[in-house]
Amino acid sequence: MNKNFYLLVIVIAAIGLMNACKHLPPESGFNGTTVSGANNGVCFETDILPLFQSNCAKSGCHDAASHQGEYILDSYSNIIKKGLVPGNATGSKIYKVLFETGNNKMPAPPNPDLTAPQKILIGQWINEGARNTIGCGVSCDSNQFKYAANISVIMSTYCTGCHAGSIPSGNILLNNYANVKIQANNGRLVGAVSHAAGYSAMPKNANKLSECQIAQIRKWVVAGALNN
Ligand code: HEC
Repeated sequence: MNKNFYLLVIVIAAIGLMNACKHLPPESGFNGTTVSGANNGVCFETDILPLFQSNCAKSGCHDAASHQGEYILDSYSNIIKKGLVPGNATGSKIYKVLFETGNNKMPAPPNPDLTAPQKILIGQWINEGARNTIGCGVSCDSNQFKYAANISVIMSTYCTGCHAGSIPSGNILLNNYANVKIQANNGRLVGAVSHAAGYSAMPKNANKLSECQIAQIRKWVVAGALNN
């Protein structure tokens, strides 16, 4: 027997193991697939993770410390662990609860509901296989800084999970133009997202916004925080 033979045996065994894993039910060991680059469908990194982090992985809910119902929804590996059937949104608890009512709905009252487009996006991501799509080449143009097209989209993706509803975090609402303008004018908006000294770093317990997104917010504020 030579070395190559043993190598072949190991490779065949490894392929066998990989295939065996593929057929396990997702709830008992779905490892997730990481795909990097553009045109891979819904982008987990930029479109889905921020929604989970700001709406679900909150203190008292599904951050690592609180893990209500044993759900921790703060990272890809934790999000795919439970209640998620890749390829089957309507069979996934994590998706179904978005449409419940009363105390069964998630985010639980008094936290605000996800918007209809946000729910659709999560469903689409699950139906596409719940993959860890990263480095998606999402375009951000720091010369575009309009409230409706740019700023409000950042707020609803990264911030309103905590800063909306009847008990907003830090007693700060970022759910509409008038309220965002208050934080723009008092300097806290830029202070918080740029992680400036003396401000709480935002979004809380999540990655810093991209330099391009921070530039869009800064330029919008400097230009007078218009409702444009
Ligand atoms: C997971 C919940 C959460 C998310 C997401 C979140 N915040 Fe906050 N935010 C808080 C809490 C809690 C406070 C109160 C201060 C603290 O505990 O750090 C706060 C405080 C603030 C403050 C006041 C900071 C200061 O030092 O005066 C601003 C401004 C703010 N947030 C803006 C934002 C913006 C903008 C986003 C999105 C880019 C965001 N937050 C996302 C929870 C959150």
